[in-house]
Amino acid sequence: MAKVLARDLYGPKVAARVPAGWQAPEYRRLSLEPLTPTIGAEVSGVDLGHVDDELADELHWALTEWKVLFFRDQQLDREAHAALVTRDGEVIDHPFAKHTEVYGADQSDTAPGAMRFVKGEKSVGIENFWHHDMTFLARPPMVTALRALEVPPVGGDTLWADMAAAHDCLPEDVCERIADLWAEHDWYDNYGRSMSPELREAVRPEFPAVRHPVVARHPVTGRRVLFVTRAFTQRIIGLSETESDDLLEMLWAQADRSEYQCRFRWQPDSVAIWDNRACQHYAVSDYAPQRRVMERISGDGPPPSH
Ligand SMILES: [Fe+2]
Repeated sequence: MAKVLARDLYGPKVAARVPAGWQAPEYRRLSLEPLTPTIGAEVSGVDLGHVDDELADELHWALTEWKVLFFRDQQLDREAHAALVTRDGEVIDHPFAKHTEVYGADQSDTAPGAMRFVKGEKSVGIENFWHHDMTFLARPPMVTALRALEVPPVGGDTLWADMAAAHDCLPEDVCERIADLWAEHDWYDNYGRSMSPELREAVRPEFPAVRHPVVARHPVTGRRVLFVTRAFTQRIIGLSETESDDLLEMLWAQADRSEYQCRFRWQPDSVAIWDNRACQHYAVSDYAPQRRVMERISGDGPPPSH
């Protein structure tokens, strides 16, 4: 792959927050404090334990506009937590969480769809690379809500990257080249590694590899979003292995650019709600042996499409 020189990375790299012509409604119930010009806003004046229809609508539009929303001091039971991700979909029960110990907790004590992450004391964090969650499903999560139960005094931040901005700031010839491509996504080399060979083969028929567009249209705004992830994207259909690997490395690297990122410092009872189609995330693994306990629920959406 050709070496990328610093001069090739210079601006202009200023991305739009929303697509041209798209206008978020006026927010009457929310107070928003942006973290960056394009992605991430902290919301105040909201009790996520009591969300009526009007507030749900405003949260939906704010999430569409900012891609990830942050809240402090929220008391949520499982029902209220799940309600944050099911406005337009169903809770996703992670198919492999109960088969592996990668999350550091016995998942049997959580409700269907709720995943608990216990990290730091016995094992380090594992999601410290850029990824969309669960793209090995035909209908990957649309919205995810993550709640902090215990956090280290410092460390354990999470970052999100705006993959619409990442797409828009690609060179024009690259945008043209990838516009109609499809990629294969699979769980096998990821979760499969922590399963026994027998179990891996037993669940395989129910969860074959799936195909998603490399550039998906956002279901709400229609905006083009880069939709490939180091976690699950195996190859780009129709390219040689070398071409596919080189192109994927280049597209994955877009998430590394600070211009498209925001970073959140957790406190107990903080909640983040993110649009899993519009952004990738990265859980910083820098807090072991301090303990960090999080709980996550995701809701699905339509299959990604061009
Ligand atoms: Fe994740």
